[in-house]
Amino acid sequence: MVYAAGMELLDGLMARRTTNGPFRPDPVSREHQRILMRVAQAAPSHFNSQPWRFVLIEDPVTIGRIADIAGQSMTELIDAGVFFERYRRYFRFSQAEMEERRDGIHIDHLPAPLRPFTRQIFSDSGLSLMRRLGVPKKLGEDNRRLVAGSPLLMAVLLDKEEYRPGELSGFYSVFGMGAAVENIWNAVGELGMGIQFVSTPMEIPRHWQSIRELLNVPPELELMAVYRLGYLPADQARPSIDWSSRHRKRLSQYVYREKVGQPEQDS
Ligand SMILES: Cc1cc2nc3c(=O)[nH]c(=O)nc-3n(C[C@H](O)[C@H](O)[C@H](O)COP(=O)(O)O)c2cc1C
Repeated sequence: MVYAAGMELLDGLMARRTTNGPFRPDPVSREHQRILMRVAQAAPSHFNSQPWRFVLIEDPVTIGRIADIAGQSMTELIDAGVFFERYRRYFRFSQAEMEERRDGIHIDHLPAPLRPFTRQIFSDSGLSLMRRLGVPKKLGEDNRRLVAGSPLLMAVLLDKEEYRPGELSGFYSVFGMGAAVENIWNAVGELGMGIQFVSTPMEIPRHWQSIRELLNVPPELELMAVYRLGYLPADQARPSIDWSSRHRKRLSQYVYREKVGQPEQDS
């Protein structure tokens, strides 16, 4: 426990996390689905506009299709080198670097065949090595399996009357949607559940369009994100690549006192 008795909410917030491993196959009860939708709706929104919409997906055929698209997207992103190029700045190569910066993801859990080449995966030679070892396909298949084995997917959409990118209402809508999703993200732990972004398809426009079509998304709504959810197994083995991190910056690295440039003291 981080805080004094009676502060369960704060403990809950501090315990929120991303689930990168498999869920139990059991369906998520309708009661729990309703709770998640209610907590989402409790979030603030500009002028109480509630610009968010959700699609709850349990049909195994649709989940299977989205899983195929997610796996294929992962394979394409890794194979083309796009993934590591786009995100290299978030990867840390040693515990010391992680301790110093306290942000990003420590690459300490690469698939076994790649571990001796940790530093090379960001180079051209590393990429050809990965292709030779079949890593893009393996990661794609891992991702497909994780999504296919999830009992519940949740798509988050925004009403385009409010979501107008480039205008303040566009920013406000995204802000409100983030608050709604964060409420869900915080509540899942209390229900014995986990949640993870299914993000690879949104990196490849034609795959994102396929998901829009699968879900019948009309022109007046924008598909913003897809998540997978389910109950957590008792035994949670770490997945082949763990993209999440519990490291956080020290107070002095992200809080200023009175003016920018005057860091708050670490206690
Ligand atoms: C906008 C956004 C996008 C994210 N995308 C992914 C993602 O694609 N896959 C994933 O597993 N986690 C994703 N995450 C989760 C982060 O990796 C995670 O929050 C971070 O590593 C801290 O770990 P924690 O959530 O367990 O505290 C995303 C989080 C946010 C806010």
